[in-house]
Amino acid sequence: MKRTTTMTTRITLPHYAIVVGHIWDDLRTFLHDRSYSQLIVLTDDNTKQHCWPILQKELDQWPLAPINITPGEQHKTIPTCQHIWSAMFDLKVDRNALFINLGGGVIGDMGGFCASTYKRGIDFIQIPTTLLSQVDASIGGKLGIDFMQVKNSVGLFRDPQAVFIAPQFLKTLSQREVRSGFAEIIKHSLIADARQWEQIQAITTLQPVDWSDIIPQSLMIKKDIVEADPFEKGLRKALNFGHTVGHAIESHALESAQPLLHGEAIAVGMICESYLSRLYLSLSEKDLEAIADYIYRLYQPRAVDTKDYDTYLALMANDKKNEGKAINFTLLQAPGKAEVNQTCTEKEIRDSLDFFNTICNR
Ligand SMILES: NC(=O)c1ccc[n+]([C@@H]2O[C@H](COP(=O)([O-])OP(=O)(O)OC[C@H]3O[C@@H](n4cnc5c(N)ncnc54)[C@H](O)[C@@H]3O)[C@@H](O)[C@H]2O)c1
Repeated sequence: MKRTTTMTTRITLPHYAIVVGHIWDDLRTFLHDRSYSQLIVLTDDNTKQHCWPILQKELDQWPLAPINITPGEQHKTIPTCQHIWSAMFDLKVDRNALFINLGGGVIGDMGGFCASTYKRGIDFIQIPTTLLSQVDASIGGKLGIDFMQVKNSVGLFRDPQAVFIAPQFLKTLSQREVRSGFAEIIKHSLIADARQWEQIQAITTLQPVDWSDIIPQSLMIKKDIVEADPFEKGLRKALNFGHTVGHAIESHALESAQPLLHGEAIAVGMICESYLSRLYLSLSEKDLEAIADYIYRLYQPRAVDTKDYDTYLALMANDKKNEGKAINFTLLQAPGKAEVNQTCTEKEIRDSLDFFNTICNR
């Protein structure tokens, strides 16, 4: 990881580079060096309003052709891909064009998928504009869409040509979205960096945070893990901490009148799975309390209804991370040390939800 005086961090992976901070000189150099035939920019309504004008101003020497979609996970679907592919045909996009994803994880996953399948694949870069996509979704090469109401069920692994991360975009992001993205930073520290876990506990409100150090630190954790296991055969499963219970909570909440954002559900999942880590591994009572207390204070989650436990268990049983019948978990030995491929009994999963409820009702 290289840091320059202009507060720009450059992280090099085997196939591409990640630039964090003041990205614009690096982006212009990248475009100069490659001489693409066309630059296509995918936005949604929100990034078109807040991020596109910044990009356009910084790249005023380059003609940019925008394609816009409606924001939201519910649009991460084949019909939206058809809209994107059609727009690319209308723009006569050729195989030497560059596709630029300007947005959160929905834009990054779906734009990368459309670019990778259009005419058997054109180059794309990620310019993530949410905290979640800046620390997580934009790296690791997982692309895709939701199909048959199953999240990310159609897609592929393919790396971008580069990732340019500008924390300046976070200024227009809602506090709720910032907090949701922060859950992945908490997760990264808990699975791999005890020191960062100590540091971030000092962050008790997300309003005045300086992201310039935290984002590269958190990214490095994901980078090291995906580099060691690019196709999720083993180690990469560490990134699933909090996600077994969290995905079930998220899926169920999506059907309700009060849907949760991804990170809000993962926050609940991390409390439950820390409880399971105490039961199954060596996570201490003190660490369990510290994790549950910190996450509760930051997210103030609602208790879950005991009547929904069966639904959560059914959703966990269907999780694509499972192998065979057992529900697969990543648990913690200690903050900074994760253990993949753990299985827990149904009774203990229910106990973990009870534990979460006692935290909420204290
Ligand atoms: N590929 C991966 O490895 C990976 C990892 C984690 C999550 N994901 C995917 O990421 C998606 C979630 O990403 P997300 O949380 O970024 O959601 P998102 O892309 O839906 O963005 C959240 C909201 O913020 C708005 N927005 C984005 N940038 C903005 C800005 N700078 N200012 C104002 N508004 C802005 C968007 O329009 C949207 O309404 C999910 O589909 C998930 O499956 C992928």
